[in-house]
Amino acid sequence: MKEKNNRRAFMAQLGLSTIPFVFPKIEKNAIAFEDELPANGTEAQSMINFIYDGLELSPDAYLQKLKEISGSQPIQPDFYGSGGVTKLLEEKFAKLTGKEKAIYLPTGTMANQLALKLLNQHNTKVIVPENSHVYRDEADAAQSVHGKRLIPVGIGKPYYNLADMEEAIRYLDENEVFKSGLGTVLIESPVRRANGAFVPMETVREISKYCKEHHYKMHLDGARIHIASAFSGVSISEYASYFDTVYISLYKYLNAGGGAMLCGDAEIIDQVGHQIKIFGGTVYQSWFNTAMANHYLDGIDDRWKQVVGISKSMVADLNQIKGVTLTAIPNGSNIFLMKLSNDIDLKKLANYLYKEHQIMLGRATKEGIVKFAFNDSLLTRAYPQVIEAWKKGIEQARNS
Ligand SMILES: Cc1ncc(COP(=O)(O)O)c(C=O)c1O
Repeated sequence: MKEKNNRRAFMAQLGLSTIPFVFPKIEKNAIAFEDELPANGTEAQSMINFIYDGLELSPDAYLQKLKEISGSQPIQPDFYGSGGVTKLLEEKFAKLTGKEKAIYLPTGTMANQLALKLLNQHNTKVIVPENSHVYRDEADAAQSVHGKRLIPVGIGKPYYNLADMEEAIRYLDENEVFKSGLGTVLIESPVRRANGAFVPMETVREISKYCKEHHYKMHLDGARIHIASAFSGVSISEYASYFDTVYISLYKYLNAGGGAMLCGDAEIIDQVGHQIKIFGGTVYQSWFNTAMANHYLDGIDDRWKQVVGISKSMVADLNQIKGVTLTAIPNGSNIFLMKLSNDIDLKKLANYLYKEHQIMLGRATKEGIVKFAFNDSLLTRAYPQVIEAWKKGIEQARNS
């Protein structure tokens, strides 16, 4: 019993109790942790994971990192979101996206919802991708809280294109008595529910041109936009230039405990602070999120450039191993799909990699596919060491 509790405490310490093995559903246990765990694991910081978009720091590693950050330069706290490192980060995000202003919000959900509300003004309809976070994962907040009706487009597709959107608008105009009411169009890129595929720039440009001609506003749910940028080669400011507002997460790969930035014209962003307060989101201090994100924002382009390079080598090298197949996703970013031949035991492989090399793997779907995500945890170790660990792991896991 005591052992079980220790194990639970240890997993909580490592932040592993919520590992998403069947992405994006959050599950409790990782395949790599089904057997015994090391007695004490303070190695989280140098842990390599092929599961997340970021480092997934344990509470201990998070505290250590904050200490290191404040050691090199004292962290300036914010006061109800104003000033300090939060303001500094807002300025950096405005510059990064080429927008007039940026504002910190406690969640991306709130950033998306407030952007849609403010951009849409008196209009009732908002076009959204059917598989988007806004449509599927924000508890119908647009409809129930903000009086906006979400029109899902692109059912069954990773993203919708201009023709899909025009068809949806035509259908509404022809079949509804009260015409139009459409004010805003949303794009999510990369697409979380499409294994990180990004919307091709040509599609973004076409939709943006149409929206300008028809006076529709545009919002980008760019929770992971740095990852799309690294893999597509399109700069964040170019992405942002097609949109009125852009949201970027502070925790997906900037390793904060939470938080979001919403960037746009001063006219919109200046209204957001009051809205955050109305919805109870004005937090006394947020420097522990913004200092962390600020730290990891520095040098991010170089780090992800390296991740892209390593991912190319690693996909090629792993595909050389008999029985291992890594497949790219069309317009894909950092996620690949791994399949192992029947003679390789995934559980054995995952346990070996975890115990011997502090490398974490995700669990397979019913179809035997493992989502294989590259992130900058890979940069904490020399590449030859990582590939060697894999080769050994596969041999150990091969049933002869
Ligand atoms: C694409 C996308 N948009 C928005 C969000 C919402 O972010 P938050 O958890 O900060 O509300 C997420 C989080 O999973 C996401 O993946």
